Amino acid sequence: MGFNSEGAEVVAARLRRRPSGLIVGGNLGKNKATPEETALDDYAAAYRLIAPQVDYIALNVSSPNTPGLRNLQAPKALDPLLAGMLALRKEMGLEAQPLLLKLAPDLAFEDLDAIVEVAVSSGISGLIATNTTLDRSIVSAMNHDKVLAWGQGGLSGRGLAAKARAVRLRLLQALDGRLPLVACGGIGSGADVAQALKDGAVLAQIYSALIFKGPALVGRIHQELPHLMNTEP
Ligand SMILES: Cc1cc2nc3c(=O)[nH]c(=O)nc-3n(C[C@H](O)[C@H](O)[C@H](O)COP(=O)(O)O)c2cc1C
Repeated sequence: MGFNSEGAEVVAARLRRRPSGLIVGGNLGKNKATPEETALDDYAAAYRLIAPQVDYIALNVSSPNTPGLRNLQAPKALDPLLAGMLALRKEMGLEAQPLLLKLAPDLAFEDLDAIVEVAVSSGISGLIATNTTLDRSIVSAMNHDKVLAWGQGGLSGRGLAAKARAVRLRLLQALDGRLPLVACGGIGSGADVAQALKDGAVLAQIYSALIFKGPALVGRIHQELPHLMNTEP
């Protein structure tokens, strides 16, 4: 669907009224109609509105439903995008606010290595991996026809877990501790979070499992985690 939100101005106004005491991140992408060449202008406009209202920003260059967005992961497009956003962060006096880059699970492993080098040398704060996948081969044979009938769009949730983890492991290897990595994709239990942290991620994010299991999932994971972290992988 692309980013069918009410837009950054409306979201920023809503965030200004949010209760304190919660960590909230802003997730930015370019508009569907904006060509890749001027994508930075969109990210910058959204950043100016959203960044002052949140605790961290994720630059989303990995949603599959906005034409051209994922091409921004190519090093020659990524380099100026990250440089431009870091310059803006400085101009706004927000150097202390983490600026993270969110990646797709559908990149070739060799491309991941190149992206890591661009990310590390840019000076951004870390990576989030992964977004949804376009890869229909992750769907079980039983559900294959049904999912193909849904048409285009990114797949998320449990079926994405193995693919997202494989991408994270490669990224962690390439990063070699130079930047932190936030795990995302198919995480839905304390065991999943423990595995991601033991793999080397510093945080875990959940989307689909929150929908299927409800918001109490977060509390359950927090209860389970200390025990799970003390057991062997
Ligand atoms: C309905 C839906 C909307 C999403 N919108 C965004 C988005 O605006 N920006 C983004 O970076 N990721 C978006 N995602 C991707 C999720 O944030 C997450 O990276 C992905 O679903 C994998 O995690 P999960 O398996 O826990 O769902 C969306 C996912 C779904 C299912």
